[in-house]
Amino acid sequence: MTTAAIVPAAGLGERMGADKALLDLGGDTAIERVVATCRAAGIDHVVVVRRAGAAPLPATGAQVVEVAAGGEMADSLRAARATLSAAVTQVVVFPVDHALVRADTVLALLGALDRLGGGVALPLFDERPGHPVAMARAVFDEIEDPAATLRDLVRREPARVRVVPTASSWVRADLDHPQDLRAARNALAGSPWSTVEQMFRHRSHRAYRGYPLPQAQVERLVDAARHASTSSFIQAYAVVAVVDQARRGEVARLCGGQPHITQAPVFFAICADLHKIAAACARHGTQVQAQSFELFVQATVDAALLGQNLQLAAEAEGLGACMIGAARNHPIELAQLLGLPAHCYVVFGMTVGVPADDPIARGRMPLPGVLHWERYDEAVLDAVFDGADEGMREWSRRTNAERGGYNGRPVSERKGWVERMAIMWGGESSYAAARQTLLDELRRLGFGPF
Ligand SMILES: Cc1cc2nc3c(=O)[nH]c(=O)nc-3n(C[C@H](O)[C@H](O)[C@H](O)COP(=O)(O)O)c2cc1C
Repeated sequence: MTTAAIVPAAGLGERMGADKALLDLGGDTAIERVVATCRAAGIDHVVVVRRAGAAPLPATGAQVVEVAAGGEMADSLRAARATLSAAVTQVVVFPVDHALVRADTVLALLGALDRLGGGVALPLFDERPGHPVAMARAVFDEIEDPAATLRDLVRREPARVRVVPTASSWVRADLDHPQDLRAARNALAGSPWSTVEQMFRHRSHRAYRGYPLPQAQVERLVDAARHASTSSFIQAYAVVAVVDQARRGEVARLCGGQPHITQAPVFFAICADLHKIAAACARHGTQVQAQSFELFVQATVDAALLGQNLQLAAEAEGLGACMIGAARNHPIELAQLLGLPAHCYVVFGMTVGVPADDPIARGRMPLPGVLHWERYDEAVLDAVFDGADEGMREWSRRTNAERGGYNGRPVSERKGWVERMAIMWGGESSYAAARQTLLDELRRLGFGPF
């Protein structure tokens, strides 16, 4: 695959009152940012289209093609097309207005195009299409028709278009007016969505839109997630991504029938995997210490760290997720369905997709109930419990009033967090009863006996 990027930058920038390609965006000009982004996405061949007589561009290594002033974007694309060699098989149209779009968005588009085996890949923010647009060369060549526009190429055959949901508002934002430039500069000066802010924004999502996730995006999310710390570098985890609808239905059946498992485009089974360690031992003539409770804990902790990283990575890309502890309802049947080898179990699952719900954030108990200084401070408990109860009741009240209940049913506004915990895990706990066979099932999957 040889990919070329075409950067229309021939406009006069009348509304902006300046040449957009030369706008200063955090120390680099807009055109330098776009070219650098293309390079970061693996696109070396960049063609910038300029109006004849426009100010020279800083050196970027991009090819510059000139067009007469006053033309449309399609004229720029035709001029750039005339310079493309036959070896170019994919084209990314990346208007300079979208200079804040990042390489991961471009990579997601190219990944979608690969999966589609051609056609057009279109980024979506807030359900609306934006730029850049990636397309197969055959589609781009349709611009040769002097009456054709980029919009025509995108709209002509809906079946050849794949939309790629992104968390980047910059796919939609043009650099048209001075206020657009101010917004772009503010965004560059201090990231409004730092990682920490992202963590505070977390909510579990239990309803999803039907968009499939591009394979490249799934791979990147899991790849990022597995860079979590791992005990002694054992990397004792595995992830099984289930995208097949019927198989997700089977998974849902084994996980208490939770409907979002069938609805989300992908279900991740986050596994503690000692199979690879066992195989490594076997290659050196030893046997894995499967009865080591310490090793079991290490693999389980490693899997959980990967899982949390995966959820955060998905959220950072504008996706929603929900962990599925119900994957431990029937661990043996689930292991069989996923073809897990011995010494491997699903610690929990996770649904990921473009969210279709907007849950009220649950908040958490007051921080002194979690963060202690120097020594565990038992004295804070009453105040922490009061705060936790109050938070729970407020969440219930808002969920009923603003969302018509939780999972379609009203939530008790009377019960606080403390009473809920007592019901869940005290006395005749149905939660404890449901998974009382877990230890035995883990043994049958090759762990222990502890
Ligand atoms: C390991 C784990 C397993 C979970 N299992 C489920 C599950 O099976 N189904 C579900 O709807 N939510 C599940 N959750 C989501 C929790 O209910 C949720 O995180 C919690 O209520 C706090 O809400 P929040 O994530 O929206 O802040 C699970 C969470 C964790 C950490």
